Amino acid sequence: MLSRDALYNRRRFLSYVAGSPLLLAQQSPEAIGDPKEALNVLDFEAAARKALPPAHFGYLATGVDDDATLRANREGFQRIYLRPRRLVDITRADLRTDLFGTTWETPIGLAPVGNQKAFHAEGELPVVRAAREKQALQILSTAANTSVEDVASALGRPPWYQLYPTSRWEVTEKLVHRVEAAGCPVLVLTIDTQAGRHTETQERFKRLDKRECKACHGTRPEDFYRRKPMFTGIDVEGLRTSNQALSWEHVRRLKKLSSMKLLIKGIETGEDAKLCVENGVDGIVVSNHGGRAEESGRGTIDCLPEIVEAAGGRVPVLLDGGIRRGTDVFKALALGAKAVFIGRPYVWGLAAFGQPGVERVLDILRTELTLAMKQCGARSIGEIGRSSVGYSERRL
Ligand SMILES: Cc1cc2nc3c(=O)[nH]c(=O)nc-3n(C[C@H](O)[C@H](O)[C@H](O)COP(=O)(O)O)c2cc1C
Repeated sequence: MLSRDALYNRRRFLSYVAGSPLLLAQQSPEAIGDPKEALNVLDFEAAARKALPPAHFGYLATGVDDDATLRANREGFQRIYLRPRRLVDITRADLRTDLFGTTWETPIGLAPVGNQKAFHAEGELPVVRAAREKQALQILSTAANTSVEDVASALGRPPWYQLYPTSRWEVTEKLVHRVEAAGCPVLVLTIDTQAGRHTETQERFKRLDKRECKACHGTRPEDFYRRKPMFTGIDVEGLRTSNQALSWEHVRRLKKLSSMKLLIKGIETGEDAKLCVENGVDGIVVSNHGGRAEESGRGTIDCLPEIVEAAGGRVPVLLDGGIRRGTDVFKALALGAKAVFIGRPYVWGLAAFGQPGVERVLDILRTELTLAMKQCGARSIGEIGRSSVGYSERRL
């Protein structure tokens, strides 16, 4: 006989699954079969759901606890409206964006997402090829299934590198020296998962998956690193992904370790943004790991204004989380972000269609951003400003 709590949990799960648009999409004949059929990037989610085993889709989809922060990332954008402007000559809209001395085609980059072999047999490589084709900024994850050298060679230039502070400093040092030698210009330190987290949606999807996972994932925490090329030659015995002792002292040490620009990813408050600047950080990524870090219930677009204010123009502020439309990109730029990153959308494209899927996701967002710019009379990224948007009482 099930306890009351167990019954409650079971009921919640069943209603979650029954009400999930993802499940409906999986059963629906309408899941797209070709990237060209996609009307918007959300069309790729159902296609990815169909292509992936349940546990891998759960890893991609999950937030933490009740997924409230995951939802808040979307809902935040829905409370911001655009302020269209008329009779501006908009025959051209220039999306080019300068960051640390490099000019990118657009302000839309690819966020670091680990373990991409869970989504495609070739792992990161189709994404790298799409980034090369589209001249998009790409951040490679510490947890990638492809080495920084292989990515640099397929990309035609070294990527930005995302660093997880492992539990041992000497491992951090080795990784930093290796990526600097590979020519990476920017190091992005992710600091938002140190506390630990409950990825409940992932666990629920795992239960729908009847495959044996141990063969791929191993059974010990160290096994996570043994399959990662960036840890080849490093003693990973006892190594853990997080380091709860991490502090600003660690950031200052890291800054001295290389000549790469140092960005911090996972900032959500003005106080921490101010500390970033005081501790010599070169840029800030406003992020809650796509709602996977903690259940703050606050979307990144809602965190952005206080961070931009605290940074005071001294370092660039970038943002990710919940970007699904060109209008979302526009809103983030209007509120002071210099560029944005997408996570899940390009992975949906990867899972469903490989390189063409990732390219189509980028194309759709670029087209939508261009439209929003023209509708608001902005002919260049620099012309998008605070007066381009307003806040609404209700969700749009
Ligand atoms: C499956 C998955 C794996 C991720 N892996 C990493 C990672 O290895 N390093 C990291 O800094 N962020 C990681 N992230 C977070 C993303 O970089 C990014 O912050 C987030 O996906 C943005 O939100 P979005 O998915 O709503 O676009 C991951 C996100 C997902 C969905």
